[in-house]
Amino acid sequence: MRRTHYAGSLRAEHAGEEVVLEGWVSRRRDLGGLIFLDLRDREGLVQLVAHPESPAYPVAERVRSEWVVRAKGVVRLRPEANPRLATGQVEVALTSLEVLAEAKTPPFPLDPGWRGEEEKEASEELRLKYRYLDLRRKRMQENLRLRHRVIKAIWDFLDREGFVQVETPFLTKSTPEGARDFLVPYRHQPGLFYALPQSPQLFKQMLMVAGLDRYFQIARCFRDEDLRADRQPDFTQMDLEMSFVEVEDVLSLNERLMAHVFREALGVELALPFPRLPYGEAMERYGSDKPDTRFGLELKEVGHLFRESAFAPFRQAERVKALVVPQALSRKEIAELEEVAKRHGAGGLAWARVEEGGFSGSVAKFLDSIREALLEALGAKVGETLLFVAGPWRKAAEALGQVRLRLAERLALPREGFRFLWVVDFPLLEWDEERGAWTYMHHPFTHPHPEDLPLLDTEPGRVRALAYDLVLNGTEVGGGSIRIHDPHLQARMFRVLGIGEEEQREKFGFFLEALEYGAPPHGGIAWGLDRLLALMTGSPSIREVIAFPKNKEGKDPLTGAPSPVSEEQLRELGLKVVGHG
Ligand code: AMO
Repeated sequence: MRRTHYAGSLRAEHAGEEVVLEGWVSRRRDLGGLIFLDLRDREGLVQLVAHPESPAYPVAERVRSEWVVRAKGVVRLRPEANPRLATGQVEVALTSLEVLAEAKTPPFPLDPGWRGEEEKEASEELRLKYRYLDLRRKRMQENLRLRHRVIKAIWDFLDREGFVQVETPFLTKSTPEGARDFLVPYRHQPGLFYALPQSPQLFKQMLMVAGLDRYFQIARCFRDEDLRADRQPDFTQMDLEMSFVEVEDVLSLNERLMAHVFREALGVELALPFPRLPYGEAMERYGSDKPDTRFGLELKEVGHLFRESAFAPFRQAERVKALVVPQALSRKEIAELEEVAKRHGAGGLAWARVEEGGFSGSVAKFLDSIREALLEALGAKVGETLLFVAGPWRKAAEALGQVRLRLAERLALPREGFRFLWVVDFPLLEWDEERGAWTYMHHPFTHPHPEDLPLLDTEPGRVRALAYDLVLNGTEVGGGSIRIHDPHLQARMFRVLGIGEEEQREKFGFFLEALEYGAPPHGGIAWGLDRLLALMTGSPSIREVIAFPKNKEGKDPLTGAPSPVSEEQLRELGLKVVGHG
């Protein structure tokens, strides 16, 4: 006796058919005479009925929720349909019922989603500890299946476009992507370590040197960094690289790929091309290098209006960024926004309300003399609130950018749909206050903008990169660049970064040598696949779209990893634990 149908696939057209179903008992109701069971499998639920004269009856009396059963019976139309279930027009009159496995009572309900009922979330800790049960829930199954469809769509599209899938090693040498490495000790020679890859970056570049021309991989990456809702210590990239291309080639291929993915996996049509926003403009208008452009509330620069002002903090500041809130805000709301601004580096948040013929608020008296010019620059009207952050450009912009995001939540601005954009023309380098040196903004293999090459040694901070980030609804879902393929330029780049020859040789010698054997111009990108999926499914965290994720502390409540190892293992590896954190 083998399964003939999925329980959740039965419809009115199956009426009269004999079927064999296998799955989990979801609910059991004993009406004293008739026993109703709901049987669940990955496609949904169907009602089973055991009549007292059926041999299935004594088994139906015994089974409990989440037991695994094999059921045989005849599909028939229900006297009254259940509109909430896709199978709601039918039920299965049982002729036999067999228990395949008994089950303990699950620690949280698994079924409401399958019944079209509202789900009450169990704690995440409990969900992760019993992840195999959590994954029995409808939403989680849908997330995993969407993930599958997205990856399939990527494979199909890239295969058609001539990309070759290549797996790159997990046990390797450090690839710098700005995080700490996870290290793996080498047993045969204690003291030596592999690093798990932070990304396949150097390998995919060497595949271009190898002449593969177009590579991709659904690649696992490992980064030891502080965790957040959109970060995991191991996560997945859609990683690709192309030879003989320029920025536009990479962007347009990725747009077509994304449109294909959304069409195939979600049935959503994306408008192409995605807007391209230079980094400087993104920072000016949104105070972010990953702007959420689903709503307005753009920042404005008003520093020039305060050059003669009596208010020293504004007069002396490099920049004064302003935001118009289209309504009055309470003191409490302003205090909360000021908290946000301060947490993101602002000295404070100045504010004023536009009144008839004047202003009220913390900086009102300094605004009267420039009222006309200010209202015109901001396009502000009576009754609206003005918010200001003064300071160095990036700090002021970023702090007010965060205020902008909080305001969108507070004002419940509509934020619907999927708003993609490219942020381009990033600076190549940024100044690292702590180290007192220039550091790369993406990674050290990013090609400088050819027009800015002369500035590399004189004004490195002004050099733009041939780098791009893909942003969706205010989240960075991908990033890439055209790479340096000239070994002399790569060496020059390392010099600017203050990476000495010895360090270059030790860390990247193999790669620099590869560049000396005829490297084609090349470039590529990696998408954060988990982040993309979280946005596609409207999930609050990437943990919702990963089958077995770590929790917020980077631990796995299911397996107990990370966990101690035996003395024996440590001895073999030549390791000694000298302290516990
Ligand atoms: P980058 O470091 O920007 O680029 O990574 C690419 C994308 O991966 C996602 N991402 C993460 N997702 C989950 N958890 C994490 N800890 C995490 N870190 C990054 C982000 C990010 O945009 N080698 C380059 C790509 C290239 O230049 O081709 C790279 O790894 O969505």
